[in-house]
Amino acid sequence: MKILEVTDMVMRFGGLTAVDKLNLSIDQGEILGLIGPNGAGKSTAFNCIAGVHPPSEGLIQFNGETINNQKPWNLCKKGLARTFQIVKPFATKSVLYNVMVGAFATTGNTSEAEEKALNVLKTLDFENRKDTKSSSLTIADRKRLEIARAIATEPKLLLLDEVMAGLRPAEVDEMVEIIQHLRQTGITIFVIEHIMRAIMALSDRIVVIHFGKKIAQGTPREVASNENVIKAYLGDEYGVS
Ligand SMILES: Nc1ncnc2c1ncn2[C@@H]1O[C@H](COP(=O)(O)OP(=O)(O)OP(=O)(O)O)[C@@H](O)[C@H]1O
Ligand SMILES: [Mg+2]
Repeated sequence: MKILEVTDMVMRFGGLTAVDKLNLSIDQGEILGLIGPNGAGKSTAFNCIAGVHPPSEGLIQFNGETINNQKPWNLCKKGLARTFQIVKPFATKSVLYNVMVGAFATTGNTSEAEEKALNVLKTLDFENRKDTKSSSLTIADRKRLEIARAIATEPKLLLLDEVMAGLRPAEVDEMVEIIQHLRQTGITIFVIEHIMRAIMALSDRIVVIHFGKKIAQGTPREVASNENVIKAYLGDEYGVS
């Protein structure tokens, strides 16, 4: 069953068409990667899907329901969560507080929210940081916090926007494991990432966009050997033949 279906989605900012007739779908339980050069429209596509701005044209369906004009908070309650490329926790608050903010999507009860948040922190092996002020976290831990906050909303579909940017290689490996684990818990994942070895290892399928248009899709291997993709984005370094 398709958990997400995007049909002919267009997003214009004045004269600029950031997303141009994009079509894609994600199966329940799948990890779909989204790659493309800087400014290709990846984060804009996420913003449209997550309700940050309604698309100029097209149809976005989540679990068969059209969600074009719904607000992020509503979508979050329905099980569609995202992380932001620029991580913005409540800096003066603790890790636990920040994750509880996510948990309030599914409960109005403070002690229940705390329990859910603690469970998420445990799952992400992050419990030892629960009392740390968010502003004093390393980049890797801030990314982990961003994921924890999203997980605490109990998503069915999780959109991850460059959660590995700025991480050291060992931290990237750890993040790949975390994401694989999340999928095993039943969460469908849509992931934007520039770190090729990570997206290639994670994704069941990858969609490639360039100037807002889809230029290729397929398995990581198919995409990595696609000439248009190599020309537009990968260069010869990553291309496989
Ligand atoms: N709110 C906005 N208002 C105007 N233009 C925007 C807005 N958001 C994005 N854009 C423009 O849309 C285009 C696509 O940007 P977007 O951030 O989606 O790219 P991206 O693929 O996520 O790039 P990156 O890999 O650098 O994160 C860019 O030209 C960007 O300047
Ligand atoms: Mg982006």
